[in-house]
Amino acid sequence: MSKMTPMLRQFLSIKGEYPDAILFFRMGDFYEMFFDDAKVASKILGITLTSRGSYNGQKVPMCGVPHHSSQSYIARLVENNWKVAICEQTEDPKKSKGIVKRDVVRVVTPGSVTEDGGVDSRSNLYIAAVAGKTEPRGLAHLDLSTGAFRVTEITDWDELIDELGRIDPAEVLVLERDDLAEHKGLSAYRLEVLGRELFDEGRAGLLLKEQLGVRSLAGFGCEGMDQGIIAAGAIVHYLKETQKGNPDHIKELVTYQLGDFMFLDESTSRNLELFKTMRRGSVKGSLFHVLDRTVTPMGSRLLKRWIGYPLLELNEIQRRLAAVKSFRGDEIFREDIRQGLEGIFDLERLNARISLGRANARDLVALNASILKLPAIRKRLASATSSLLTEISMKLDTLQDVAQLVEKAICEEPPVSLKEGGLIKEGYNEELDRLISVTRDGKAWIAELASSERKRTGISNLKVGYNRVFGYYIEVSKANLHLAPPDYIRKQTLVNGERFITEALKEYEEMVLGAEEKRVELEYEIFGQIRERIARENQRIKQTAGLIAELDALAGLAQTAQLNNYTCPEVHNDEVIDIVDGRHPVIEQTVKEEDFVPNDIHLDDKEHQFLIITGPNMAGKSTILRQTALTVLMAQMGSFIPASKGNIGIVDRVFTRVGASDDLARGQSTFMVEMNETANILRHATSKSLVLLDEIGRGTSTYDGLSIAWAVAEFLHDRADKGVRTLFATHYHELTDLIATKQRVKNFNIAVKEWNDQIIFLRKLVPGATSRSYGIQVAQIAGLPREVIERAREILDNLEGEELDEVGRPRLARSQDNDDEETRLQLNLFGLQDQRLQKWIRKLDISSMTPLEALLELNKMKTYLDEQKK
Ligand SMILES: Nc1ncnc2c1ncn2[C@@H]1O[C@H](COP(=O)(O)OP(=O)(O)OP(=O)(O)O)[C@@H](O)[C@H]1O
Ligand SMILES: [Mg+2]
Repeated sequence: MSKMTPMLRQFLSIKGEYPDAILFFRMGDFYEMFFDDAKVASKILGITLTSRGSYNGQKVPMCGVPHHSSQSYIARLVENNWKVAICEQTEDPKKSKGIVKRDVVRVVTPGSVTEDGGVDSRSNLYIAAVAGKTEPRGLAHLDLSTGAFRVTEITDWDELIDELGRIDPAEVLVLERDDLAEHKGLSAYRLEVLGRELFDEGRAGLLLKEQLGVRSLAGFGCEGMDQGIIAAGAIVHYLKETQKGNPDHIKELVTYQLGDFMFLDESTSRNLELFKTMRRGSVKGSLFHVLDRTVTPMGSRLLKRWIGYPLLELNEIQRRLAAVKSFRGDEIFREDIRQGLEGIFDLERLNARISLGRANARDLVALNASILKLPAIRKRLASATSSLLTEISMKLDTLQDVAQLVEKAICEEPPVSLKEGGLIKEGYNEELDRLISVTRDGKAWIAELASSERKRTGISNLKVGYNRVFGYYIEVSKANLHLAPPDYIRKQTLVNGERFITEALKEYEEMVLGAEEKRVELEYEIFGQIRERIARENQRIKQTAGLIAELDALAGLAQTAQLNNYTCPEVHNDEVIDIVDGRHPVIEQTVKEEDFVPNDIHLDDKEHQFLIITGPNMAGKSTILRQTALTVLMAQMGSFIPASKGNIGIVDRVFTRVGASDDLARGQSTFMVEMNETANILRHATSKSLVLLDEIGRGTSTYDGLSIAWAVAEFLHDRADKGVRTLFATHYHELTDLIATKQRVKNFNIAVKEWNDQIIFLRKLVPGATSRSYGIQVAQIAGLPREVIERAREILDNLEGEELDEVGRPRLARSQDNDDEETRLQLNLFGLQDQRLQKWIRKLDISSMTPLEALLELNKMKTYLDEQKK
């Protein structure tokens, strides 16, 4: 140990405090990493692993990255789920005795990146926390880069996981004492277990109040939410540990309930491809991508939130729709506003960086440029007629005082760095002005020196130059050395000449360099003061940013409505959903070869509650299901809809069971996923919900699947005597028999035309059932080899022939009210379990039997069945 260098000792002691982070240890212009940190980082970053010195007889692995480009390296480590502790030199190396003091100034974690470029500007970046050993549990989430902070409590664990999925956090905090780390559903996230402090609501409440700057939490509506407060407190605690700067912009906590918004569970959001496609996970091809025509990053983020959290309150929906309508109706108004918004930078994130003390001068210039856009927007809004726009215009603080401050103090094109001057304008600070003029005068004198000395000495090629080691000098070539006057003091000998200084030059040099150094220091200091001064206005800036986001999202929706030919829906609280000429908002953008064929959908709680949709493969069943849900969702978020007319009764929750996919990460098979989702629907759907069932039961054998599908359909139809609005797409044509017993069921199919053993898709939804799937024709279109198609046709013929041989197919619906025996018989026939009975019936040659023989045979069968029953 005694041979350890002081630097290594310092490193190890700091590293000891951050064992689970990669320590970026500042050494001059580099951040260096040692030991395992170096091994991990060099691999992820693709940089060379070397070594420096030794420890316990072993070479110490080391790698490093330049300080000026460290951000991208940090971002990459964080993307790989590492935390990075940034350890800076906290005193000037020139002034320190012995080893320079160092300290960790910040820990960058996946959820706490605030730098531009480190985060996707069109998405929020959340840290979430879950608290509670038992139900209800607290769930809080925070976007450090914008200051959005919300909390709720949730009883049902599955719903909590769904809500977490909707938040999509970059990391999740749990408390060691809650034993949540192993809970199913959390494994998908980067977990941070907070163990050191034991949390109770008292301590968490104190932390929260301190952060929010209030004496009581009552104003935030979260009183009594013990676990919610603990979760929110855990986030504040985590911030304090990782962000050494004070996150002062977080002064608001929004309390919400799941019931405040349309609930979208994780699988529904995935199935409807709200934010990314199922297959590739790309944003392109999602609803968000089609709708997003915002021009600012915060507008885009807000739109994303609106899609994820559609409204339930009729008034609120109508207010948004009215605002979109007024933008839609007046193109010039909309263009004016959108042009005004265009030059506005990410106010939310600028605000956060200013509060955290991480903003540079360019950030302030961007803030100013944004603020300068506000008065015109406000003025243009004054004539708005919609109540929401009027309210935005009245609340919009144009922050002119902030703009004036920046305008007066900050240079127009400052450098990125805060430590090389060029930040503060002349005329802002007297002392600074003096230093600037000294520097300028001194530099001017030096610039003049060459010509005056040439004159004085007669050395025509005399030069004045500067280098870091010797400072300013006068250079005289060898041939002219004899002309150098006696007051020249020799400093350096070169191959071709000599470098000199003079007393006067030395004086000016000291003046210039001293003033320059002081100037840089002073500028840094003044900049810090201005930044702090603006940070004090962070709540005002935040509010303005929020209003701009809202304006942008509304105007963007109007823009999309016009470009995509959407109409304004009628929204109400009845159970009717009536869509005329509805289209799928995403698919209509992508089908180019054939125009998208619009379809009507009518759902109500009387006759058209449960629509069974049959039709060939590829006909468009799934498309109709999804477009209906997407249209309802769009209406409830306040958007126009892809239809010529729409009458939308508010839906409390959309459920989907679509397609089949494995969820190996959760350790579930295809069928298990399908049944889990179905169970979830049956448990939670209400008469206000909208359920999409796309081919349920497909993941198992035909008869098991059909039976489950049938029973599920009956259950939803009869649910709480009112039933649930459901669209059910299926290839089980037997299900169309449900209309015989269930009055609110209606059959529809998607029409196709047969032509020469081919099919032509008409894409039209028409009343009635079909009995064919045309699977083989579709397989042919897909390019299955010809011999396979021909053989499949043969087999299909055989199968269908067999079906016709049967004694007449059982009506599934009758199974409910009949007596046991008949039920058994039907089940046996249906389930094909009793092969014996079937063969028996088939073998009978009815035409050669007498009636008596037939009766006797029938009696034998009955006896056989009776025996089976025992
Ligand atoms: N109304 C429409 N207008 C134009 N094209 C459509 C329409 N509906 C669907 N399509 C096209 O048909 C494709 C298949 O539609 P969809 O997946 O809905 O068929 P499906 O009936 O569910 O088939 P399967 O039974 O195999 O699941 C879509 O991807 C789209 O390209
Ligand atoms: Mg389908």
